Amino acid sequence: MTDNAVTAMDATVKNASVNDLIEKIRQQALADRVPIIQDEGRLFLEDWIFRKKPRKILEIGTAVGYSAIFMNQVCHSEIYTIERNEKMFQTALKNLRCLPFGKEIHLIFKDALEAVSDLADQTFDLIFIDAAKAQYQKFFDLYTPLLSVGGTVICDNMDFHGLVENSDNEHLSRSVRGLVRKLQSFRSYLQSHPEFETTFFHIGDGISVSEKK
Ligand SMILES: C[S@@+](CC[C@H](N)C(=O)[O-])C[C@H]1O[C@@H](n2cnc3c(N)ncnc32)[C@H](O)[C@@H]1O
Repeated sequence: MTDNAVTAMDATVKNASVNDLIEKIRQQALADRVPIIQDEGRLFLEDWIFRKKPRKILEIGTAVGYSAIFMNQVCHSEIYTIERNEKMFQTALKNLRCLPFGKEIHLIFKDALEAVSDLADQTFDLIFIDAAKAQYQKFFDLYTPLLSVGGTVICDNMDFHGLVENSDNEHLSRSVRGLVRKLQSFRSYLQSHPEFETTFFHIGDGISVSEKK
């Protein structure tokens, strides 16, 4: 066996163990009912990152670090990810420490509505919004000034279980109705935004991709 073969095999084994770790994090999140991105959404994001190779990604809504870790794994983009819930943040920190990589993933424990000044000297090629749905427009307005030229914003949960396009269900609670209305208004906001071209995909729980013109 040549040295090259050994190196290639080491890489395969290492990737397999990283994938095992990511799968463990996914299983634990599901068992703990942590709302992580659906599998279809994950595939979409991984494919997008593989094709576009963003150098730096900002994620709003870390939860336990699942999406930050798999996004980082696609092409080792540097990731900044913001989480306001201490328990989630601590679990994400613990998950990151289990990984044989992770130097490129920066966890920020803060409310994203108050963290923009911490990142004022950074620019991002991709911003992934996956946090409180009622605040999507605020996150978008706060953080898009940090996008690089030609940067993209991807948002998850834009269909919100199909309710955004079909909210006539009289059994919805007031709070769910409120969230649906906010997401509907955010969709219209994106559609008419003069600086972004937005496409909506019915993938996973609904994904929007807004490209800076
Ligand atoms: C849907 S989960 C994120 C899932 C994660 N992106 C994944 O797929 O692995 C949303 C997370 O955003 C966090 N969050 C909600 N609003 C936030 C805010 N204003 N600032 C920071 N984190 C927030 C919640 O605590 C929750 O952990």
